[in-house]
Amino acid sequence: MAVNMKAKSLIEIHHLSHEEIWQIFDLSRTLKEKRLTGESHKLLEGKKLGMIFSKPSTRTRVSFEVGIFELGGTGLYFNQNDLQLKKSENIHDTAKVLSRYLDGIMIRTFDHQDVVDLAKYGSIPVINGLTDLHHPCQVLTDLFTILEKKRVLKGLKLAYLGDGNNMAHSLLHGCSKVGMDISIASPSGYTPVDFVVKESLENAKYFGSKIEIIEDPVEAVKDADIVYTDVWASMGQEAEALERKKKFMKFQINPELVRNAKDDYLFMHCLPAHRGDEVVDEVIDSSNSIVFDEAENRLHVQKAIMALTM
Ligand code: CP
Ligand code: NVA
Repeated sequence: MAVNMKAKSLIEIHHLSHEEIWQIFDLSRTLKEKRLTGESHKLLEGKKLGMIFSKPSTRTRVSFEVGIFELGGTGLYFNQNDLQLKKSENIHDTAKVLSRYLDGIMIRTFDHQDVVDLAKYGSIPVINGLTDLHHPCQVLTDLFTILEKKRVLKGLKLAYLGDGNNMAHSLLHGCSKVGMDISIASPSGYTPVDFVVKESLENAKYFGSKIEIIEDPVEAVKDADIVYTDVWASMGQEAEALERKKKFMKFQINPELVRNAKDDYLFMHCLPAHRGDEVVDEVIDSSNSIVFDEAENRLHVQKAIMALTM
């Protein structure tokens, strides 16, 4: 049964129901097929999406901009430095003003609370294009991509190695909402935040998945269907890169480590990848790797998200 997501913001996967997640997947599949066959799908004719970035981006920017264009609308790019936002104007006022011009806002920024506030004070849907806490569009895309490849989600095991960052948090929310097991191996001091783990454990109880937060990379990867990693120093943490490299080296995804996963395991990475750090060429360029399908699907899944909410 279709659920109405009109005007709903997408701030974190935890706020989505199981039905809403599957509705996004269904529409993503339809839109992907239509694009492939050249069938018109201008579901957002004349609509305007504002895209605010205070961090760099390749995939998110291009896929949202191309996505809104293909749906018949227009994307407006704003570097946050060029806006009055958080300089001479508070979020409250910016949210109210942008709501008078636009039909939706996608924002990539540091502080998760800024996205929450933008949605709270504005009257149009806000889509989180990455904060320090979450990256929901990426993980919805990842789950959709796994579903395409494996045909199921429930019962699969995803191993995530590395920093307990925005990707780890959204993967915890995402896997636990679709009944996938998730095993996270991070160095001590770099584990996911407790409240996200707690929220995910509640989902897991309901949807029947297992969650494991450990320090042993071999144990995490053991019999995994999906092996996932991300950069060791995220945007904004560049100064810590060297120190992190030393602490994270044993979490590198290399041929020796992936021998512990299932033979038909999939390698995933949200990209950009720091080859030679969190993953080596032999894995990311192997036939198990689906990183470019994952990147392509950002387009289809975000088109579905925009079409459903705007
Ligand atoms: N995965 C991802 O969000 O990539 P960008 O930083 O290039 O947008
Ligand atoms: N954790 C990374 C993800 C990039 C898509 C970052 O925040 O920089």
